[in-house]
Amino acid sequence: MGRKLLLEHINEPGINTFAVYRQKGGYRAVEKALKTMSPDDVVEEVKKSGLRGRGGAGFPTGLKWSFLAKPEGVPRYLVCNADESEPGTFKDRYLMTHIPHALIEGMIVSSYALGAHTSYIYVRGEMMPQIRILEQAIAEAKAAGLLGDNILGTGYNLEIYVQPGGGAYICGEETALLESLEGKRGNPRIKPPFPAIAGLYGCPTVVNNVESIAATVPIINDGGEEYAKIGIERSTGTKLISASGNINKPGVYEIELGVSVEEFIYSDEYCGGITNGKSLKALVAGGSSVPILPANLITKTAAGNSRLMTYESLAEGGFQSGTMLGSGGFIVYDEDQCIVRNTWNFARFYHHESCGQCSPCREGTGWMEKVLHKIEHGHGTMDDIDLLWDIQRKIEGNTICPLGDAAAWPVAAAIRHFRDEFEWHVLNPQESQQRNYGLAHYADPLEPVVQ
Ligand SMILES: Cc1cc2nc3c(=O)[nH]c(=O)nc-3n(C[C@H](O)[C@H](O)[C@H](O)COP(=O)(O)O)c2cc1C
Repeated sequence: MGRKLLLEHINEPGINTFAVYRQKGGYRAVEKALKTMSPDDVVEEVKKSGLRGRGGAGFPTGLKWSFLAKPEGVPRYLVCNADESEPGTFKDRYLMTHIPHALIEGMIVSSYALGAHTSYIYVRGEMMPQIRILEQAIAEAKAAGLLGDNILGTGYNLEIYVQPGGGAYICGEETALLESLEGKRGNPRIKPPFPAIAGLYGCPTVVNNVESIAATVPIINDGGEEYAKIGIERSTGTKLISASGNINKPGVYEIELGVSVEEFIYSDEYCGGITNGKSLKALVAGGSSVPILPANLITKTAAGNSRLMTYESLAEGGFQSGTMLGSGGFIVYDEDQCIVRNTWNFARFYHHESCGQCSPCREGTGWMEKVLHKIEHGHGTMDDIDLLWDIQRKIEGNTICPLGDAAAWPVAAAIRHFRDEFEWHVLNPQESQQRNYGLAHYADPLEPVVQ
């Protein structure tokens, strides 16, 4: 069994309440940080831990914190990104639902480290139950003297506010999120300046993912070096993975980074193998934005190395033969899945969610969706496959924010690894028109299975 740092007490009845969370050792990190450490000490521990942002890009958290500008007399903000809208990703929602105090505790520790006295949790607008849960948790922490003025008698003041999101995937992009938090339409900003210099209301701001913030709790409790002992290379600590698709045990799992992909898919501790004993066809390892991997590249890399659940191993081979850990949205496709249909489904999502600011994304996502629909429904030509390739290439790297890349990469990888399936649709128009299956279910089950 791998070590659990975030979900250690997940099966404890009442762990969502302040009383049980505290009884299980909760808020020790706040006491330790505020009473025995300086803010810089906390930043140092997070640096030592090697923690990388769990929102998708994997940027080192301690390094990001050290970029925060500290001009005199200007407030600094911590903003927690709980917008979680990437298809296949439902780990933050799980954490907020079942152990909300882990996030609140991480918010206090992280805000202290950054010198923030007002912090926000920007929660996807559709997640009303989680918004209520977090508000309740904040009220409980405040009643216990862990929030508000003079926390635990240390002189440190902090208020945390929960902000319902704007109801769009783009609001998860950190600068769009800040625009939305300021009450405007969630359009991404041109960078630089980065939020660390000019973020919320033009003030220095750190935006971090729910899981990144919650991970600061075990880091402070046990020390950054202990945290860094888990994992391999620059992939330290544990990671929440939301697993879905054609697997026997969909749900949210906490893994030690470095577990092999094969073990994650087939062992009973995690996904429990492919449903109905079918064979594995493809894998989307890190949420809908990352390149799909075909069966021959899932458990082994092109160089013949065992494929591991780490940032480095999943990326081995670049986009030619690798992918990304991303947000940890792990979607497994069995032999019956239609790659064209699944790719079209993602393309439809990105078209719907493009904010429209940049022409390559606004026009390109819709165009890709149309061409994919045409091919999937048996009306495509071989030229359409080349056209699709051309469109995605013209989107990638040509937009203000990475939503354009996120839309282009899945299409590129699908054509790169499964061109024969696209051609099959062109060559078999009648069968294509009749087929109405092969779409993976990548939403979370109502009651996620957890180890
Ligand atoms: C279109 C788009 C949507 C995003 N959605 C989320 C999200 O829901 N949650 C998240 O943490 N990061 C999301 N990100 C990444 C954020 O911009 C940012 O990198 C992240 O919140 C930083 O936190 P981290 O360093 O802790 O990972 C998204 C990025 C893009 C381009």
